[in-house]
Amino acid sequence: MTARILDGNALAAQVREDIAQQAAALIAQGVQPCLAVILVGDNPASAVYVRNKVAACEKAGFRSLKFDYPADVSPEVVLAKIDELNRDPLVHGILVQLPLPKQFNEEEVLEAISPAKDVDGFHAENFGLLLQGRKSFYPCTPWGVMKMLEVGGVSLKGAEAVVIGRSNIVGKPMAVMLLSQGATVTVCHSQTRDLAFHTKRADIVVAAVGKPKFVTGDMIKPGATVIDVGINRLPDGKLCGDVDFESAKEVAGLITPVPGGVGPMTITMLLSNTLESARRAAAHFQSTP
Ligand code: GUN
Repeated sequence: MTARILDGNALAAQVREDIAQQAAALIAQGVQPCLAVILVGDNPASAVYVRNKVAACEKAGFRSLKFDYPADVSPEVVLAKIDELNRDPLVHGILVQLPLPKQFNEEEVLEAISPAKDVDGFHAENFGLLLQGRKSFYPCTPWGVMKMLEVGGVSLKGAEAVVIGRSNIVGKPMAVMLLSQGATVTVCHSQTRDLAFHTKRADIVVAAVGKPKFVTGDMIKPGATVIDVGINRLPDGKLCGDVDFESAKEVAGLITPVPGGVGPMTITMLLSNTLESARRAAAHFQSTP
């Protein structure tokens, strides 16, 4: 059996078209969604991600602001910029691209962003709301995965889901979102004793470990859904995921490719969060005499 492939590019294009239409309606009311992006240092992968985010904003009709700082910038300078952006009513989303250079305390930087503009969903307040099942900005990558599962027709109620990876950005919020939709969730990580034991009994495997081709076909239950969050660069320059696509697609029922799977959905959900923030700002503006 060869798995059905979940095309993230096609889904992202469809959702972004809808977002662009909603942005146009908001602009007609006098509010243009605006995302401010802060990039520190010269990490080439971060530069590509930021470029893609800014381009996606512009294509959707959003305003975007980009602030570049050298790798040795003092944290106070970046914190002052965040403070300025927090207070700017024309800015709806603020994103600081991670990782940051070592003089930064990432937690301190992320907590400095107003929760109302935290379109990455990384602020402790938003993460706490997510944990409690309350409305917040959801972290973009796991939320993009949830959209893909929905569009793929994957039933979550009572499903056995295994998340590999326990990062604050992907693994932990992914586990919470799957749990909230009724899945039985196991979170595996680098100290898990027998990873294959867990993955072989999973209806859904989400791989977010950052290790190329780490999950192989023999670790997957026939017919399972396999979501690959990894983006790794091989020595020959090609991109590959955390899943060995060639062997996994022969066993899985549904699988996401890399590139062209989860990646495009991450930026799409960032646009969605920014649109939502702008909409809240517009509602607030209209209800304030
Ligand atoms: N670095 C890697 N992924 C992300 C992301 O989704 N947001 C930010 N801000 N930094 C990242």
